Amino acid sequence: MISIIIPTYNEKANIPLLVNRIRGALNGETYEVIFVDDSTDDTPRVLEKIHKQYPEFRFIHRNEEKGLATAVILGFEAARGDILAVMDADLQHPPELLTEMLTLIQRGADLVLPSRFVNGGGDKGLRIHRKLISKGARLIAQLGLRRVRKVTDPMSGFFMLRRHVIRGIEWNPIGWKILLEILVKGNYMEVVEVPYEFQERYADESKMSVQQQLHYLRHVYRLIVNSPEDRRLFLFLLIGMSGVLVNLIAFETFYSIAKFSALWSGFCSALIAMTSNFILNDTFTWPGDKQGLALIRYLKYVLISTVGIGINLLTLYLLHSRLGVNALASNLLGILVATGWNFGMNSIWTWRE
Ligand code: GDD
Ligand code: MN
Repeated sequence: MISIIIPTYNEKANIPLLVNRIRGALNGETYEVIFVDDSTDDTPRVLEKIHKQYPEFRFIHRNEEKGLATAVILGFEAARGDILAVMDADLQHPPELLTEMLTLIQRGADLVLPSRFVNGGGDKGLRIHRKLISKGARLIAQLGLRRVRKVTDPMSGFFMLRRHVIRGIEWNPIGWKILLEILVKGNYMEVVEVPYEFQERYADESKMSVQQQLHYLRHVYRLIVNSPEDRRLFLFLLIGMSGVLVNLIAFETFYSIAKFSALWSGFCSALIAMTSNFILNDTFTWPGDKQGLALIRYLKYVLISTVGIGINLLTLYLLHSRLGVNALASNLLGILVATGWNFGMNSIWTWRE
């Protein structure tokens, strides 16, 4: 059986058509639909009527709590099916796609994600400013979270999965993006994306708010620091930036107070920053079992960083002196390439966990 979970917040004008279209699309399948409703208008009365007419459409109404992600989790708990789907109530997610999604699950997919951003998909139902925000939000999640990089539309509220995917997840959602939780914490192998056109809202207005967008940032941050693999890159970058500060303070001390020459001050402060970065990375970024001597790790770290400086300079030289790219931009790119090198080499050589 398939359980379709639909969170609703004041959606009474959308529900009758939604119900009709789901019934049309899933004609012949065994399914249930669970509305998880936090409405403050008379949506519950509409849902009650629908339930009387079609008992496979049920609803849970909450009075005390509100929130999209927690509504979906409650729906998961109430669902009886082995296959679970989530969609919005406003017909931006075409119910007709459910059959195709179901077929893909039955062919062995663990998770089926309709996507606006694969060939054949589209997001014409979004206003331009929402498109931009959505793109930025996607980028942030994909930079920070490895498992989110594997899919094209991780922010969507439309998906289908086998129940085992979410078994045992310790939910910690803030705000709206329940799919992010599932992508990062879920237990899945095969993810299939299907193109679809995100439609215009049928009736009423979107419930998205600036507050939700801030919740989203907190959510991504929390997912990053709680995921061992994603935390590493994040900490490495943070420590790298702290190194710049250490370097500046040390430089000032050597140069202005101890009256070293500028070059000597630069050399000593670079060494101090590198050492402080090493200690911080050794303690926080790679805290697991460490083999061998700290001194060996330190020497490896210094060697990698030295080559990193070479890579930075080489990039700068090639881009700026050879190709005529702006010097600052070339240096920035050099720093990025070198940081990638440093992180990659340190994770496979200095700290092999
Ligand atoms: N139970 C419950 N509680 N449902 C809610 C709540 C809540 O607090 N807030 C919103 N909903 C329901 C709405 O009634 C609707 O069915 C669904 O969640 C999505 O809300 P919309 O207001 O339609 O959001 P949107 O269209 O702006 O955003 C949707 O599309 C985005 C794609 O850009 C959502 O699916 C987003 O998660 C998605 O990123
Ligand atoms: Mn919507």
